[in-house]
Parts: sequence; C-alpha cells; structure tokens
Amino acid sequence: MMWRIPLFDLDYGQEEEDAVLSVLHSRWLTMGEVTQRFEQAFAEHLGVKHAFAVANGTVALHLACEAAGIEPGSEVIVPALTFVATAAAARYVGAEAVFADSQGETDLCISPESIESKINSRTRAILVMHYGGNMCDMHAILRIAEKHGLIVLEDAAHAPGASLDGRKAGAWGKAAGFSFFSNKNLATGEGGMVTTNDDELADRVRRLRSHGMTSLTWERYKGQALSYDVTMLGFNYRPTEMSSALGLVQLAKLKRNNAHRRELSALYHELLVEQTPEITIPFQQARGTSSAHILPVILPAQVERARLMDAMKGRGIQTSIHYPLIPHFSAYRAQNETVDDLPVASLAAQRELTLPLYAGMTEEQVREVVTALRQCLDEERRSD
Ligand SMILES: Cc1ncc(COP(=O)(O)O)c(C=O)c1O
Repeated sequence: MMWRIPLFDLDYGQEEEDAVLSVLHSRWLTMGEVTQRFEQAFAEHLGVKHAFAVANGTVALHLACEAAGIEPGSEVIVPALTFVATAAAARYVGAEAVFADSQGETDLCISPESIESKINSRTRAILVMHYGGNMCDMHAILRIAEKHGLIVLEDAAHAPGASLDGRKAGAWGKAAGFSFFSNKNLATGEGGMVTTNDDELADRVRRLRSHGMTSLTWERYKGQALSYDVTMLGFNYRPTEMSSALGLVQLAKLKRNNAHRRELSALYHELLVEQTPEITIPFQQARGTSSAHILPVILPAQVERARLMDAMKGRGIQTSIHYPLIPHFSAYRAQNETVDDLPVASLAAQRELTLPLYAGMTEEQVREVVTALRQCLDEERRSD
C-alpha cells in the first residue's frame, strides 16, 4: 500500500548513494576503515570514549549486557513499555527481565519508583529505554542504582542526539545500545552501536563483536597482524562498510533533522491541544532535549483504537502502536503471572497511538494528520 503520509520516511539523497558507491569501489566491504571513522564520529558526537558499530540494535544491547558482566540467574529491570529487544537482551545472557512501569500518561519512560519496588537480592542491572527519544529521569535512576549497587545500561535506540543537562543519551549508563534500523532517526537499514566510557568493558565489546579474536581480518589485510588467539566465546556482530558509510552521512544530518522533528512535534502538540482536547499528549514538557523519534498520543478509553487506525488508513495515513506490553507476549507470559503493578504501561499498551513523524515531513502534513484524526475521532463517536 502506498501511504499518502507514512509513519516514517528516510531522509536519503545523493550523499548516501555516493557514500555506498565509494565503499563498493574500494573493494573492502566488511568492517574496516569507514567503520572506524563512523565510530570515532559517533563517539565524538556523544562525548564518550568508545563506540563500536555492530550489525543491529538488538546485538548492541546483547553485547552491552554480556560485556557488563550480567550473570545467568540474575535479574535485570527493564521497562514493560518498550520494544521486545530490550527485554530479550537480558534473557540472551541468561538473566531474567523484570518489568517496571512507566511514569505516567504524560511521561511514558520507566518510573524510578517502580524500578525501586522491583529490586531484590538477585537484581544486577537496570536497563532503561528513552521512550520516543525522551530522556528517562536519569538523575533519579543513577541515584537508585548507586544506593543498591546496580549497573545502569541504556537502550538508546530512539535517542541518538537526545540529551539531559548537557549529557547525551548513551553517555549516562555503564554502556548503551543504539539501533540504526530503517525507521530510526539515524537509519542505515540494519545497524547499531555500543557506547561506553569504561575501558575494560570496551575491550570486551571489541573482542565479543568478532568471535573473541585478538585481531581482525581488516588488521591482517593491512599487514598489522599475522594470526590471532580466541580468548572468549564471541559472536559475529560486525557491521558492513556500506552500513557505516550510510551512518556517517546520516550522523552529519542528525542535529538538523532532530531539530526539525522537535519543531514538528511542537506543532503537533499545539494543534492536538486545540483540536482534539479529549486525547492525552505525552512529553509536552520535555526532560532535557528530545530526539523526537515518534509522536505518541493516548486515546480516550472509549475509542476503539483498531477502528480509528483503520479510518486513518482509509485517508492514506499510517499510524502505529508503541508498544504491545511485553509481559503479555506468549514467550514472556509464563515468567510474569501478573501485570497488576504495571497500570500505566498496561493503559498505554491499550490506548497509545503513534502518529507520523519524520525529518522530511512538512507542517502542512502535520496539519493534515491532525485534521484527519479529528474527523476519525468524530466518526468513531458516531458509530458507537
Ligand atoms: C527501543 C528499541 N530497542 C531495540 C531495538 C532493536 O534494534 P534493531 O531493530 O536494530 O535490532 C529497537 C528497534 O527496532 C527499538 O525500538
């Protein structure tokens, strides 16, 4: 289906094409010099010591958990309202993902109070997710972690370029994972990044990413090493040079594109307050600077969300849901008998609707989406 206004769209042009072609012409396709440049630029942008490009955001989170030393049998507190990969990362290392609630209908990020209520003797880490590119309450979360001797990790998939008090998302925890999936603010198709200020953790990520080997194919090609040892059970989580070349171009656009996303979000908020007063608008008051990854709203209880999404689709406008509740998924249900203590995340999972937002979107299109939403809400009321 061709949407008139899709949920997201790439900001791709000649520069991305040129960057990929220049890799193809170089005849070196797997992790090498372009990836090193992307990592340096990303680390500089974030103000962190180390950045490691990887194959996607899911493995970035897996590496962060593995390299942080989270042991099998321990517990990692994660938000209930996130993409399943956040929780899967904890489970890959044999830990249990324990779900914490969101702050409230207007702040869907993980709640520090709920985190604290989930801590027990097996808790090893808190893996936060900056929902929609909006910073979690990192000061409170770091205080709790310090009090209980826990590791803080960040799922910064939504948040490249977001910041709080001058410190970027991905620079707060012991390590962080980013995603460069097609729908992200910085998109390379598949791709991700692990960031950290911890030298030892960085050393483990470096080796875990490439089979636990002490030297890379790239280094041997350059004549810097003849052989290698394998010092740990590692993975092949390497990126391609094409993905890193796209990442470099996209990173250069990130600041401008995030600023435009924030302007569009502000316009959305203004129009939604005026025209759809019955809906709740999260994140009108930003904590720090958002990367404005998505535009979530909370529908009134009586609105049938699927019908509304269908009506929007009828007008050529794509909408989405962020997210179904992880503890409700079949693969997670058995370990989590009850979601009674996740009232906000449960409510958001039932009533959240995501409206289109992307760097190339125009103000006119924002107006069109809000007008369509008003009409669809009216239709929905009449059909009751
Ligand atoms: C919050 C969150 N965490 C993790 C991921 C996983 O990233 P990827 O799809 O690159 O594996 C995504 C995106 O897809 C995400 O939105």
